[in-house]
Amino acid sequence: MLSRRTLITLGLSAAALGAVGYATWPTMGSYTEEAARQRALTSGNSARGDLLRMATLAANGHNTQPWMFRFGKDKVSILPDFTRRTEVVDPDDHHLFVSLGCAAENLIIAAQPLGWQATAVTNGTQIDVMLASAKAAKSDLRQAIPLRQSTRSEYDGQQVSASDIALLKSAASQEGVSVLFFTDRDAREDILEFVVEGNSAQMDDPAFVQELRNWIRFTPDQAMQNGDGLFAACSGNPVVPGWIAERMFGLMFKKRTENDKYRNHIRSSAGVAVFVGNREDPEHWIKVGQSFQRFALQATVLGIRNAHINQPIEVPRLRGEFARWLKMPDTRPDLIVRFGRAPALPMSLRRPVADVTV
Ligand SMILES: Cc1cc2nc3c(=O)[nH]c(=O)nc-3n(C[C@H](O)[C@H](O)[C@H](O)COP(=O)(O)O)c2cc1C
Repeated sequence: MLSRRTLITLGLSAAALGAVGYATWPTMGSYTEEAARQRALTSGNSARGDLLRMATLAANGHNTQPWMFRFGKDKVSILPDFTRRTEVVDPDDHHLFVSLGCAAENLIIAAQPLGWQATAVTNGTQIDVMLASAKAAKSDLRQAIPLRQSTRSEYDGQQVSASDIALLKSAASQEGVSVLFFTDRDAREDILEFVVEGNSAQMDDPAFVQELRNWIRFTPDQAMQNGDGLFAACSGNPVVPGWIAERMFGLMFKKRTENDKYRNHIRSSAGVAVFVGNREDPEHWIKVGQSFQRFALQATVLGIRNAHINQPIEVPRLRGEFARWLKMPDTRPDLIVRFGRAPALPMSLRRPVADVTV
């Protein structure tokens, strides 16, 4: 919530803010319609169009959508789009390749009901998803693709059952990747300390803050015009006119406020999953993405939300320390994700399929 002091600094009363808030914001309805249209199960597109749309609904760092797709004979190639790098937070393109892995996994899962059995083969920096004719098969994970989201809000503080955790582990299981689950309080508090330290380092880095700001879409119009980036409402922030939102960002995006937010987020979560590839190369980063995407889809099937808290693996000096804390000193931890239950936030948008096809 906005503090009274912040509202006064912005020259707004709570009532005025409510009047322009999420529920009544004029273009929020069009935004919600566009998000739903992009996720329609029978969009009227060709099978190829549907397949690519489902692939693009994958999780991806800063929602830059750093991918291009090319249909070949019996395969779809997924190519990195290096023009969409985030060079400050992701200087070695680790997140970029994890994101390609997420898209590959969605593509594999979405191919099944369309009558293809799909397998991913990494060729250098490109993924070839090979398509072989097969009996069409429905799956819960496929149904979850349009419903999955990153939910960056406070969760309900309740535990997740052991049987649900077993299903998440099984879904995330992937050759070349270890997935560790932490549900006890002490471990979560240790992870929280790493997140706060990593977040503090990032907030002290003007280049990090500028890059993040470049990808924030403050209003529904900005989000719809770009079809990418981090729309404020998808992070649980109020929807207000652009000029107010930009001033609010300057006033509210402060180290202390953000660290307090992460404390609430992690303490209200049921647990944290950490993904660690066996090796530090694009092939394994892609595998991590595949494992994470299945975890997130299985979570969606179970009504469990998730959100990334990657700060400790994004700040190089903390990454090694975090690996030692995991008792895996010779590895590079790839992703840190909290999970638990909470209401949905607005869904994020994607660019048109035609813009990501070569
Ligand atoms: C490799 C990778 C890194 C990510 N890092 C973060 C992160 O540090 N913080 C965060 O809130 N979300 C993170 N995300 C989630 C993306 O921001 C999110 O997937 C994207 O905005 C699209 O939104 P959606 O997941 O709701 O479809 C990450 C996702 C991926 C695949």
